[in-house]
Amino acid sequence: MRQKLAAGNWKMNGTAAALAEVDALNSHSSIAAVDVVICPPATLLSRMSERLTHSSIETGGQDCHPAASGAHTGDVSAAMLVDAGAAYVILGHSERREDHGETSALVCAKAGAAMNAGLTAIICVGESETQRDDGTTLTVIEDQLAGSIPDVVTARNLVIAYEPIWAIGTGRVPTLSQIEEVHDFIRTNLITRFGEKTGAATRILYGGSVKPSNAAEIFHVVNVDGALVGGASLKANDFSAIITAL
Ligand code: G3P
Repeated sequence: MRQKLAAGNWKMNGTAAALAEVDALNSHSSIAAVDVVICPPATLLSRMSERLTHSSIETGGQDCHPAASGAHTGDVSAAMLVDAGAAYVILGHSERREDHGETSALVCAKAGAAMNAGLTAIICVGESETQRDDGTTLTVIEDQLAGSIPDVVTARNLVIAYEPIWAIGTGRVPTLSQIEEVHDFIRTNLITRFGEKTGAATRILYGGSVKPSNAAEIFHVVNVDGALVGGASLKANDFSAIITAL
């Protein structure tokens, strides 16, 4: 009932030469069965979207400004992402929450702007290692969900990504039961807030050191509807192996 989704977050990686990886990925048959989106740096978005015009692979941004336009040097609006061919945007990634001091309220405003522009917002939540050790993981997730998700959403324009900060780029992955606990918690939270229909149909991705070697077991966890992949999405062979495991 929930279409699986593999999302690649290229972060601040890739210049024109990296588009060859997209061509290689596009030639894999595994991409047809699931939803696939690549979120390159803003400088590559238009070119990547044009390259994928006849492909089922979609593109997305890694951030957007909450305003429609105006005096915001260096920022990109949701409408600009759409203009560049994007269908998705990643919002509230822990790297932006940390590097740019983004609060959940700001993430929520960005998500509202993204949804109004017709984008699907992939809203990221996740605890730090200290919070995991303190036993406050679920409280942190609950607060981030409450603060970051707009009040009016649909299962089509919202995706949640659970990314424990300590698992990002570290090669460390939570146990399957830890992943299941948080994903179940998020599912219940969504159903409670948005009702059974929307809450049950909204996709919840896991992110943090997903590799071809661990993807299958993670994807078997209840309420894991796909992955938000960083490093392993940069190489077509690795990303296609993860997509095949979905
Ligand atoms: O958004 C994806 C991410 O933060 C996970 O990165 O490199 O651990 O797959 P990585």
